[in-house]
Amino acid sequence: MKFNDLVSKIKKLKKDRGAIILAHNYQLPEVQEIADFLGDSLELSRIASHTDAKVIIFCGVHFMAETASILCPNKKVILPDIDAGCPMADMITAEDVKRLRDKYPEAVFVGYVNTSAEVKAELDFCCTSTNAVELVKNIKSKREIVFIPDKYLADYVSQKTGKKIISWHGFCPTHIKILKEDIIREKKLHPQAKVIAHPECIREVIGLADEVISTSKMVKFCSQTDAKEIIVATEVGIIYRLKKENPFKTFYPASERAICPNMKRITQEKILFALEDLKPEVYVADRIRKKAKKAIEAMFKIL
Ligand code: 13P
Ligand code: SF4
Repeated sequence: MKFNDLVSKIKKLKKDRGAIILAHNYQLPEVQEIADFLGDSLELSRIASHTDAKVIIFCGVHFMAETASILCPNKKVILPDIDAGCPMADMITAEDVKRLRDKYPEAVFVGYVNTSAEVKAELDFCCTSTNAVELVKNIKSKREIVFIPDKYLADYVSQKTGKKIISWHGFCPTHIKILKEDIIREKKLHPQAKVIAHPECIREVIGLADEVISTSKMVKFCSQTDAKEIIVATEVGIIYRLKKENPFKTFYPASERAICPNMKRITQEKILFALEDLKPEVYVADRIRKKAKKAIEAMFKIL
């Protein structure tokens, strides 16, 4: 099928189905180009919960589509490739969290949005990379804090809040590919450049960054900064959006190896099939959904 045929078919079918297309900042350029909204995990869940559309085509990974389904049970949430998962989210199960609860019965449990619905159902608070530091700062209780599953994000939050945090051994296989040596090399090559890093990066990388921020904050920072050159320490897919929105600035990926294969599974063709068949659907059953929603609402309440 020719490119334009595909795009016009998607547009027409989207209208017929009363659908919107949401895409994460790491998606392929061909997906970003046809999305109604681009954003990070927090922004996309907010848009999902406020839209009037009956169908949400979620171009991201499984936990993001699940979060949309938790927030809007009456909408059909479609993930165009059902195998687009997040290895970090798969590094902890609800059983693991229950065991941690037995071990730390007094603790407050905070979990990254990069978790399954079953795991969210066992948490007190859910958070995203945009608000993890603020959320933990705002927990007034003196109880200890368990933060799962990302040990690097947990470490960063502990550093920023000065609070002792009990972490899990999860990590993002894409972000740990960015090494301290990559940042040192890029800084040498581009001495005027600012370095922005995602908090899923390892500590040595975070230590060399000018800004440690989520993908939505990266988008904002890059449009507002006076810097003309920026080294980007996160998944490379975001650079397409950054270049498009800032044509007079130059962006350098900290490492070309920082590619999330799951984020690249969705294509225009799969979006068209998803709109034709209205599947694969991601649906969270009520029993889990109600408990998981509480942790997400607790996040919205304290921030
Ligand atoms: P953001 O919420 O910052 O977009 O991060 C999501 C993610 O999966 C990062 O790897
Ligand atoms: Fe998961 Fe890492 Fe991919 Fe984000 S970049 S979806 S954390 S594997």
